[in-house]
Amino acid sequence: MREPLLDGHGRAIGDVRVSVTDRCNFRCQYCMPAEGLPWLDRAEVLTFEEIERIVALLATMGVGDVRLTGGEPLVRRDFPRLAAMLAQIDGVEDLSVTTNGFLLERDAAALVAAGVNRFNVSIDSLQRDRFFEMTRRDALPRVLAGLETLAQFPEAHPIKVNAVALRGFTEQEAIPFAEFARQHPYEVRFIEFMPLDADHAWSRDQVLSGEEIRAAIHAVHPLEPEPREPSATARVYRFADGNGRIGFINPVSEPFCGDCNRIRITADGHLRTCLFSHNETDLRGPLRGGASDDELASVIRDAVWRKELKHHVNDPGFIQPTRSMSAIGG
Ligand code: 5AD
Ligand code: SF4
Repeated sequence: MREPLLDGHGRAIGDVRVSVTDRCNFRCQYCMPAEGLPWLDRAEVLTFEEIERIVALLATMGVGDVRLTGGEPLVRRDFPRLAAMLAQIDGVEDLSVTTNGFLLERDAAALVAAGVNRFNVSIDSLQRDRFFEMTRRDALPRVLAGLETLAQFPEAHPIKVNAVALRGFTEQEAIPFAEFARQHPYEVRFIEFMPLDADHAWSRDQVLSGEEIRAAIHAVHPLEPEPREPSATARVYRFADGNGRIGFINPVSEPFCGDCNRIRITADGHLRTCLFSHNETDLRGPLRGGASDDELASVIRDAVWRKELKHHVNDPGFIQPTRSMSAIGG
């Protein structure tokens, strides 16, 4: 074991989000342009062994929560094998995957067997045509089938369903999603639209706040707040009659940077200390250049020490990072 990984604001880092590919089989409006993005070359992407080495090193510094993201992680060839490699690392306590669900029918069993114990599935609409409009893929039936496949595994619960909330779109989805969460063993969470879209078309008036959605749902199905867990991104509510839970991730209207314990590794091996960082630290260079674990650990420590106090989305002069969500990892 090593010393805990601390930032310069006194926060201990316990959570890493690893993007395993920048590629995706969807083209969500709030994330990617219709034509896709220039993908990384295969040689630029970290190998499974390189990812394993970074995660194992982080685990010795107290980073026990590992979330695998993309792009879409399931499009990476042999992804369940990577999950199995990471699940076996000493100190990795929680291994989770964020996916658009398109390949879950194929991979759910292998991922659960590999040791993935939590899943977030992104679904922005429960109506087929509107799902198509948002993701540019007519894939809702297939994603719902994937979700059901996953739900058969008790080890995978609780399953979270994430919906990005956009003004002019998500108002109509609030009640259907609330009812979905009441009828199924899924916790639906609305995520405020963040300025991480590849088109740089984000504007504040497109953000539908979590509070607006919460109030709309509460008027029909009364909600009661659950206690907030440390470093949690979501504010969680239970339906007052005991049927299910719903959550709100409000990074724009109610930033939760104060106790942020997260860092990110991009598919090309760069360490990011904030979704909105303007600089990042290359780990792939030292990794491929023969750095020892101690040397790598010290590069990581230095970068993490400079972790941003908070994001500046709400400040005048905010500048969107060059990388978009799919190239960072959500
Ligand atoms: N704002 C908020 N959430 C986003 N996601 C992707 N782009 C954005 C954005 N601009 C979400 C996806 C997925 C997770 C990885 O991040 O829907 O749930
Ligand atoms: Fe793909 Fe996720 Fe981006 Fe949608 S939000 S395009 S599923 S990476």
